[in-house]
Amino acid sequence: MESIATISGMRSRLKEARREIEKTKPFSTVGFMPTLGYMHEGHMSLIRQARKECDIVVVSIFVNPLQFGQNEDFDKYPRDPERDLKLAAEAGADFVFVPGVKEMYPAPTKTTVVVKQITDVMCGASRPGHFEGVATVVTKLFQIVQPDRAYFGMKDAQQVAVIEQFTADLNMPVHIVRCETLREPDGLAMSSRNVYLNEEERKQALVLSEALGKVQGWADQPGMTIERLERNIRDTIEAAPLTRIDYVEIRTYPGLEPVTSMDQWNGTEPVLVALAVKFGATRLIDNRIFS
Ligand code: PAJ
Repeated sequence: MESIATISGMRSRLKEARREIEKTKPFSTVGFMPTLGYMHEGHMSLIRQARKECDIVVVSIFVNPLQFGQNEDFDKYPRDPERDLKLAAEAGADFVFVPGVKEMYPAPTKTTVVVKQITDVMCGASRPGHFEGVATVVTKLFQIVQPDRAYFGMKDAQQVAVIEQFTADLNMPVHIVRCETLREPDGLAMSSRNVYLNEEERKQALVLSEALGKVQGWADQPGMTIERLERNIRDTIEAAPLTRIDYVEIRTYPGLEPVTSMDQWNGTEPVLVALAVKFGATRLIDNRIFS
């Protein structure tokens, strides 16, 4: 595995790697998995999937300042580049792209990628500018790596919806692969931010996956309504005293329109139940799709 810090280096090595593969096959496929680093099993499962499906696997590690708000954790976002390189190699990456901020943004960018409507709700409402930062950096990374397939985790379901939207709207020649959420043995969705939790918060963080696990049972109860479903979820989360709910949302997926009736719940469109909950300064998200 090679680690590469420059855009020109990444482009030329990929050109060579593709040429090498194409000596024995008519075409080569590049699989790409972008990350903010501080990898865990969730990240590794996406790299492993890319390894199975593609000739060349590229992982990027870049803590993208553009997607962090002024009062967010950009400066203290956990970083461990050496460990990340080991884990990426272990999961089967061929190249790890590790640009510095100056390489990606030599000057303040005057161009951004803005996705409308689906970025106004949920994490977009509580983190203004976040998805503009994500869409812009993912577009830049796609321009650099030019992947055939790109792998994203459904733990960030809204992020997947946003990425599917702009790649389709802008005719980007990349297939977006939705990957399932990896969880700790007790059900907590894996996240780089879990390291911020103290012991008591870590215990109480289980209410997110517990609440999501009860949703289908509640939905099956006769006379259930969307309002009561949401109330049940909120009550379950708030039973843990350290939680502060940012949002509980029930929306169509990937369109993210509000779901207002059980008829709609039982309709043809998949329904996303998404949670964002704060424990002290740490904000965790989790979701489940019902189809
Ligand atoms: P990051 O939070 O590092 O996540 C990188 C990828 O790993 C994302 O696609 C995310 O959904 C996926 N992932 C995280 N936790 C997961 C889990 N428990 N199971 C499965 N997949 C999981 O998301 C970002 O970085 C950034 O916004 C990025 C797309 C890299 C743009 O900067």
